[in-house]
Amino acid sequence: MIASKSLFWRHSMASAKIVYASMTGNNEEVAGIVEEALENLGVDVDTVEISQADAEDFEDVDICVVATYTYGDGELPDEAVDFYEDLEEEDLTGKIYGCCGSGDTFYDDFGKSIDDFAAVFEKTGATKGADIVKVDLAPEEDDIAHLENFAKQLVEAQEKL
Ligand SMILES: Cc1cc2nc3c(=O)[nH]c(=O)nc-3n(C[C@H](O)[C@H](O)[C@H](O)COP(=O)(O)O)c2cc1C
Repeated sequence: MIASKSLFWRHSMASAKIVYASMTGNNEEVAGIVEEALENLGVDVDTVEISQADAEDFEDVDICVVATYTYGDGELPDEAVDFYEDLEEEDLTGKIYGCCGSGDTFYDDFGKSIDDFAAVFEKTGATKGADIVKVDLAPEEDDIAHLENFAKQLVEAQEKL
């Protein structure tokens, strides 16, 4: 009985942290969609705006997610730079990561900050749990489906670790 109960806990109480950067709300919405999808899959989720987050907080969870906009000509948001540099120093071996976010296809470097975060996660030793999802401006029905699938893949990858 005890063994099966602890197995149940292990599966039902995976934890995730979503760190997002958002100036006009699109990425806050993206983060919210992923948060809800993960919660519906039984994950304990904490969502934090990037200037309030510490990269080392990812050490405490199973699934690490970044959702960010892109600024300038493919630049990171100013408020994301410290977090980005700290993340480069982290060892997240044994964690699952996923990157997503909203940009604007008008720009040549569509969603480049999302790619940059994925590259940093690779350096940390974390395991990619899902392909990057890029949303053009505000998430629409298709995007929501892609983000829900993204969340599902993260959970499945975490269960396989
Ligand atoms: C000055 C400026 C530069 C931008 N540069 C890019 C860019 O290089 N690539 C991109 O995909 N989006 C770019 N964007 C668009 C934003 O990333 C996009 O509007 C995003 O949805 C904003 O997310 P938010 O609502 O969470 O702030 C830029 C927007 C502004 C205002």
